[in-house]
Amino acid sequence: MKPVKVGLCGLGTVGAGTLNVLKRNAEEISRRAGRQIVIDLVSIRRPRPELDLAGIRTTTDIMDVANDPDIDILVELIGGYDNAHELVMTAIRNGKHVVTANKALIAVHGNEIFAAARENKVMVAFEASVAGGIPIIKAIREGLSANTIQWVAGIINGTGNFILTEMREKGRDFADVLKEAQALGYAEADPTFDVEGIDAAHKLTILGSLAFGIPLQFERTFTEGISRIAPEDVTYAEALGYTIKHLGIARRTVNGVELRVHPTLIPTKCLLAAVNGVKNAVMVQGDAVGPTLYYGAGAGAEPTASAVVADIIDVTRTLTADPNNRVPHLAFQPDHLSDLPV
Ligand code: HSE
Repeated sequence: MKPVKVGLCGLGTVGAGTLNVLKRNAEEISRRAGRQIVIDLVSIRRPRPELDLAGIRTTTDIMDVANDPDIDILVELIGGYDNAHELVMTAIRNGKHVVTANKALIAVHGNEIFAAARENKVMVAFEASVAGGIPIIKAIREGLSANTIQWVAGIINGTGNFILTEMREKGRDFADVLKEAQALGYAEADPTFDVEGIDAAHKLTILGSLAFGIPLQFERTFTEGISRIAPEDVTYAEALGYTIKHLGIARRTVNGVELRVHPTLIPTKCLLAAVNGVKNAVMVQGDAVGPTLYYGAGAGAEPTASAVVADIIDVTRTLTADPNNRVPHLAFQPDHLSDLPV
C-alpha cells in the first residue's frame, strides 16, 4: 500500500516535536497505523538548521501545502484564527484530511469547518487542541459515550497553572514566571490568551460541545483570567486551606449548558489542588461512570506532539479502513445544527 503523505504547516515548538516523534517512533507508528506515514512537505517561516529535514520538501508558503496534490493529511500547527482558517478550509475543499492543535480555530470556526469536512467527506482531527497530551477528546467522545455527562471541570491552561504554582511554591513574581513559560514554549504566541483565560475558554468551548452535544459557542463562554491575582491572594488562600486554580467548568443546568473559566478556590485536600506546574487535569462526571479524572502534560513540544501524531495515526487507520465508518467530528451531525439545544 502507498505511504500516507503528510504536509506539516508550522515548525515551531509543537511542529518540531511532531517531527521528532514521527521519526523516533516511525516503525511502531506505521505498524499501528497499518500503513507507512511520511512527512513529505513542510512549511516554515524561518530556517531551522538544527532540525533534520533530509528527504522532506520545504516551502515558505503555507498554502503550497493545502494545494499540493500529493498531500493526504495537512497538519496545521501555525496557530491563530485567520491564516489557519483559510489554510484549513482550502485543504478541506481540496479533499485533504486535517489534523490541528489549534483550539482558537476550532472554538471560533469549528462549526463551519466540520460542516465543510462533512460536505467534502474528509476528517478533521483535533485531539491536541485541548489539554496537550491528555486524550480528553477521545475520552469524552468515545470512552464515555454511553453516559449523560453532568459536568466537566479542569485545569486546561498549562501556562496559567505553571504561574500559579511558582507563585505559591516559590513566591515568584507573575511576570517573571510568564517569561519562563514563554521561553519553555508553553505560552501562546500572544500570552494574554493564557493569562486572561482566552485559551482556556477556547478549550472549554470544545469540551462543552463534545460533552453536551451543543454547537461551539466561544462568544458565550464567561471568561476571567489570572492576571489580577496578587501574591497576597495566593498566601491568604493557602492560610485558609485553599489553593487558587484557574478552572474551566462546563455544566448542565435547568436553563441550558453553563460554560465558564475563572480562578477558583479549591480545598487543598482536593485532587485538583495537587495538580502543579504545566500539568493539566480534567474531571468528567457521567451518570453511569461517576466521576473520572484525566491528568498529564497540558503543553510542551512532545506531549502535544503525542496527541498530534495519534490523530495522524487515527486518520490513517480510518483512511485505510471503511470510508463510510468514520468517527464523527463532534457529538452531533452538523446538518442538524439548528435543532440543537444551546
Ligand atoms: N498555551 C497553552 C497552555 C498551550 O499553556 O496550556 C497548550 O494548549
